Amino acid sequence: MLCGGGGAGAALVQGAGQMGTGIALVGALRAGLSVTVVDSQQKQLDSSLKFIDSLLAKEVSKGKLTQDLSVAARARVSATTKLADLSGTDFVVEAAVEAVDIKRKLFTDLSAIISGSSNPQAVLASNTSSISITKIAAATQKPENVIGMHFMNPVPVMKLVEVITGLQTSPQTLSVTLALAERMGKTTTRSNDIPGFIANRLLMPYINEAVYVLQDGVATREDIDTTMKLGTAVPMGPLQLADFIGLDTCLAIMKVLHDGLGDSKYRPAPLLQQYVDAGWLGKKTKRGFYTY
Ligand code: CAA
Repeated sequence: MLCGGGGAGAALVQGAGQMGTGIALVGALRAGLSVTVVDSQQKQLDSSLKFIDSLLAKEVSKGKLTQDLSVAARARVSATTKLADLSGTDFVVEAAVEAVDIKRKLFTDLSAIISGSSNPQAVLASNTSSISITKIAAATQKPENVIGMHFMNPVPVMKLVEVITGLQTSPQTLSVTLALAERMGKTTTRSNDIPGFIANRLLMPYINEAVYVLQDGVATREDIDTTMKLGTAVPMGPLQLADFIGLDTCLAIMKVLHDGLGDSKYRPAPLLQQYVDAGWLGKKTKRGFYTY
């Protein structure tokens, strides 16, 4: 499944945001892969590599990783602004923004580049949290090689990868993907290609309802979060979690659920839309339901 001698392997992560960076780190550190991170913005790549350096340094300082292993893992990560640099890669994980048109265009381009690869079964995986894998796959030359590989944030900490097969995903693509996730130290679950899959079909309506509870004046943001955090033993309440995920991402997923399932129970909370319109996207913009 992976190129390179001695099982070293190669994988590529497209999109150097928080998810892409985490996937690259886990690929290099836990799976021992050579990983190339691609992003059109050099600035984004620089901050991604800086974050990887700081996480590796933290692991070493905590005594969880030796200096030698840290240096070796870091040496396996490279970065480029050119998508074309991935020709010859066996496994691509796309972690771009959650927008169907952007993903479809990217997969068309990736597919053309990968078609020159020596591996006819090179996999194109999307880290999409809700968009149809079947639709993304249809934009490529080999839809049977396309699959969903949904990591949870923060990727280095969260154990789960939700694997989503599209209508045309081949059994070979599925088994390669499951093996890679396992090699990364993750536990997998399988979902069919229905909007939201498992995780966000359940999580986003919960977060959206918390926004309605806030909007309707039922309780303060603190009381909503404390109730759910202490009352259901989760690490964060729903509004804090929404800030952590990104309010734009939460809104985009609710829209996919609403459009794709056609049920008014998935309508996005107007307050969520308003915060996104204001540019209050959560932790990443230092303001969401809380200020940071
Ligand atoms: N990258 C790597 N490691 C991280 C990290 C990051 N971004 N953030 C925290 N960590 C590590 C810390 O280094 C620390 O490691 P050690 O135990 O080795 O010291 C550990 O996580 C705990 O961190 P902290 O002590 O700083 O803080 P915490 O105990 O509050 O934990 C948290 C932070 C792990 C984020 C925790 O609050 C948590 O689990 N939150 C819920 C996360 C969650 O639900 N994620 C799923 C989101 S939904 C999703 O991703 C799907 C989607 O499509 C929207």
